[in-house]
Amino acid sequence: MSSKKLRACISGVHGYVPDYILTNSELETLVDTSDEWIMTRTGIKERRILKGEMQGTSVLGVKCVKGLLEKTNTDPKDIDLIICATVTPDMLFPSTSNLIADKVGATNSYGFDISAACSGFIYALSTGSQFIEAGTHKKVIVVGADKMSSIIDYTDRKNCVLFGDGGGAVLLEPSKDETGIQDYLLRSDGSGGDMLCLKAGGSLRPASIETIKNKEHYIYQEGSSVFKFAVTNMADISEEIMNKNNLNSDDVAYLVPHQANKRIIDATAKRMGVGPEKVLLNIEKYGNTTAGTIPLCLWDYEKKFKKGDNLILAAFGGGFTWGSLYLKWSYNN
Ligand code: COA
Repeated sequence: MSSKKLRACISGVHGYVPDYILTNSELETLVDTSDEWIMTRTGIKERRILKGEMQGTSVLGVKCVKGLLEKTNTDPKDIDLIICATVTPDMLFPSTSNLIADKVGATNSYGFDISAACSGFIYALSTGSQFIEAGTHKKVIVVGADKMSSIIDYTDRKNCVLFGDGGGAVLLEPSKDETGIQDYLLRSDGSGGDMLCLKAGGSLRPASIETIKNKEHYIYQEGSSVFKFAVTNMADISEEIMNKNNLNSDDVAYLVPHQANKRIIDATAKRMGVGPEKVLLNIEKYGNTTAGTIPLCLWDYEKKFKKGDNLILAAFGGGFTWGSLYLKWSYNN
């Protein structure tokens, strides 16, 4: 019997964004803002919006997973587990992962959702990888998707410019070599929970006329405080995972950062000592899709990756939650 540790690797990635493009110019017609302010403060030019009745986050997840199954030539019945990271589930229950499994025909899979806001995908990816490492699961799908437009007040200029809808999914399988997920660091600090949250709709403040009048079903954020925590913690944890794994900036092929604000990303890259050519960005076209940003970024840049490339994924989000993950890319395109 081999004592070699099983490692999980990403064997495919697929993303989806809705067709409707909400531009900065259109936002200028809704709130008192400008393209110039949004671009200089955030780096966002446009974002995608899922329009239409009865279109929840599972619609995004299903598109991602169907595309992933097709691309990797995988029979949905061979999927053991689907984990969905989201803060905008179709409903509080059943889980969105369960709805996705049903709609893609993953009849032998079970699933659950992970709620870790903008760090959701890193939390879910590290969780999924452990089922592979344990040797109990052969094919695990990790989805990160959010329909942020469902919790945005389009009269609130501080938040409506930041977020968009979209998602991505990866297939995890046992790695055949040394590539795959090498390490991760995950953190949280509940004392920051009040600074970025959805105040009502849970068991603490169930929906009422009052919660609706107070706009408590829309995202609440103390932007500049969150910004400070994000800059410090995302940079710290990215540096920490490099040090822990004896990586210097030359060893890192790409930083795949959560896309909340270009200035937060720049600060992280600077601390890691990596130049802009190694920083993967798509914030300009999608904005912050919460759990969707990192898998969308992997999907957008998949063709660039070579087998063996060292990727550092890093995120910070509501909760507070933050984390970094080090992986060696597993295939050439
Ligand atoms: N257009 C024009 N002006 C705006 C605006 C908008 N869309 N949004 C806010 N402003 C105004 C504010 O009202 C404020 O005006 P005042 O000084 O007259 O009160 C001014 O711009 C500065 O606001 P402030 O919030 O201090 O700006 P900022 O430089 O911190 O940038 C964010 C605001 C939201 C872009 C920034 O704080 C941020 O990115 N925070 C992190 C948010 C995030 O990404 N969270 C997700 C999880 S990480």
